[in-house]
Amino acid sequence: MTTKIIAHRGASKLAPENTMPAFNLAYQQGAEAIETDVQLTKDNVPVLIHDEHVKRTTNGIGYIKDLTFAQLKQLDAGAWFSQKYTGTAIISLEKFLEWIKPKPLYLNIELKNNKIDYKNIETIVYDMVRHYQLLNRTTLSTFNPKSVKRISELHSEIKIAFLTSRRNKNLVPYARELGANAIHVKYRLLNRFLVDQCHQANMAIRAYTLNKPSRMLKSYALNCDGIFTDVPDLALQYRTVFKEQNK
Ligand code: G3P
Ligand code: MG
Repeated sequence: MTTKIIAHRGASKLAPENTMPAFNLAYQQGAEAIETDVQLTKDNVPVLIHDEHVKRTTNGIGYIKDLTFAQLKQLDAGAWFSQKYTGTAIISLEKFLEWIKPKPLYLNIELKNNKIDYKNIETIVYDMVRHYQLLNRTTLSTFNPKSVKRISELHSEIKIAFLTSRRNKNLVPYARELGANAIHVKYRLLNRFLVDQCHQANMAIRAYTLNKPSRMLKSYALNCDGIFTDVPDLALQYRTVFKEQNK
């Protein structure tokens, strides 16, 4: 099995996270999938941004839930990262789906509804993915167990991952019970036992966020299904090294 390289918020080490430059760079570097985070604006537009608040990654202030998409589009989401990216905007999920549609990339859309439980975010995102006919290469994920359950009950045609950073010896049966078909775990939770337990339960396991070669090599050796990384080029380079050494 080949571990998939998933660009975490795009190639976010070299370009501002969750923006078009970061996604384009991830694609150019050869990432096989892109992970992005979704929040809902005041007027219910799904937008790509990690935090609930715009403060860290834009020149604005306020919660996404209190700003309209028209207001959010005015903000600069690149200058905080580097002057070179001044003028970069926050984008909608719709624009991202349009961009990815003709490319041979998998998608992981993370619903950021563990702090603010945005009403209907599951259905809004699901309907959009379906509209773009991307259901077969999309996984929705969330740290919110209630949301995993809602997705599995409402939209059984899409793949769902339960995200966690907490140790739980019953994690695999628990995630399965919620209706997830994959688990996305913080790297420190990754071990052979968990990988085997997932695979026996017919579930995928992916780990976040790996930027060090030693961790990447360990994940490849464990047969992890995917790794989230800010440096997809490095992860690909080390995957080649790993394959050479294990021929
Ligand atoms: O989806 C994997 C990872 O992105 C989860 O954590 O905080 O980087 O969104 P975070
Ligand atoms: Mg994320």
